[in-house]
Amino acid sequence: MDRISIRGGMPLNGTIPISGAKNSALKVLAAALLSDQTLTLENMPELADTRFMADLLRSLGVSVVWARDSGVATLHAADIASTIAPYDLVRKMRATFNVLGPLLARVGHATVSLPGGCAIGARPVDLHLKAFEAMGADIHIEAGYVKAAALRGLRGARIAFPFVSVGATEHAMLAAVLAQGETILENCAQEPEIADLAACLIAMGARIEGAGSPTIRIVGVTSLQPARHRVLADRIEAGTYAIAAAAACGDVLLAGANADHIGALINRLRAAGVEANVVNEGVRVRRVNGRLDAVDVDTQPFPGFPTDLQAQFMALMTLAKGRSRFKENIFENRYMHAPELTRLGADIAVHGSEAIVTGVDKLVGAPVMATDLRASVSLVVAGLAAEGETVVNRVYHLDRGFERLEAKLKACGAEVERLSG
Ligand code: UD1
Repeated sequence: MDRISIRGGMPLNGTIPISGAKNSALKVLAAALLSDQTLTLENMPELADTRFMADLLRSLGVSVVWARDSGVATLHAADIASTIAPYDLVRKMRATFNVLGPLLARVGHATVSLPGGCAIGARPVDLHLKAFEAMGADIHIEAGYVKAAALRGLRGARIAFPFVSVGATEHAMLAAVLAQGETILENCAQEPEIADLAACLIAMGARIEGAGSPTIRIVGVTSLQPARHRVLADRIEAGTYAIAAAAACGDVLLAGANADHIGALINRLRAAGVEANVVNEGVRVRRVNGRLDAVDVDTQPFPGFPTDLQAQFMALMTLAKGRSRFKENIFENRYMHAPELTRLGADIAVHGSEAIVTGVDKLVGAPVMATDLRASVSLVVAGLAAEGETVVNRVYHLDRGFERLEAKLKACGAEVERLSG
């Protein structure tokens, strides 16, 4: 299994191009199932997760032509050959579960494995299933699979989510596009990826209003048209490199990053003493020498501080002056990186959903291991600031969500190598 070696202490200086957003790409790929016309997606990030989704779509009968050099994927679901998403695929990558809604809407039935829990928490999908039931689908769970049927088609419905869920908002939107009549979704998530999915669906001919606000209105259509959509820039990748630049004492231009999408992070970085400025090309992050101030972090749905940046920010705070308090409000088991950061010399005490980080003078490199994508990259961030060599094991987590990670860091002066085997 590949590992990544980081020799810490080198400042990061230069430009990092921000890739297309993984969490948006996966949903717009699933949208291709809704239409018998072509969908052309630009800025498609080449990641293990997007490859997985493309493979699943092919197994369902979708033609996927993906020009890796240009990042353009052309999808055509002229006919749906299968409506089954097997356990082996859904277990490996949860977002594959999102083919359920489009298959149900287009064909009237689907059999999709339940994703199960994952390293960061239980992650149920009850809200997704309740939304489909409200639209008239019959849902049964059998042998670990969701068997869903709406043989006379889905019907528009009023669905008030009891709490904010990005996944359920997107999945209900996907299904409602082809439902008969009007669907009103209330208490929706407002993440930028939701507006991006809506933009793609609207280009395909869907009638959607209000995406990005708490209430989304969708009027079902009977057919869709050929469309072209550009996947938005990955705010989590941008945020990760912003934190990396701060950790390594650098001056980095995050080319293509949208500051509005990482406002909560920029606020925390500035409070800690990092310069973050909006420039024409994106966002420029600069830290001069001297210790940062400790600041607190409370993860919240957008526009709050994203759970997907909590681990990376914790890595940064391990070297700050004073104590920072973290509160993880989205997932129940999202501090798996804390014991690994402690192996580098960090002082972190976890109490349930809270963690107290007491800044130390230095981190010292060590071999480390992580259990999920964002936790793994937090160890890379820590490694950039640590003395000596840090070796991050289980690189496949990083490959799931960071396009050309080593190349992007190396281009800014980091000493990062992939060790194979
Ligand atoms: C979440 C994050 C998203 C992040 C992604 C990957 C939030 C609000 N969402 O999205 O920003 O990119 O993880 O790390 O920050 N839940 C249920 N039942 C459901 C669906 C969700 O109980 O049917 C719960 C989840 O367990 C979680 C909360 O609702 O505690 C929010 O989950 P949700 O937003 O759906 O998760 P993701 O879509 O994976």
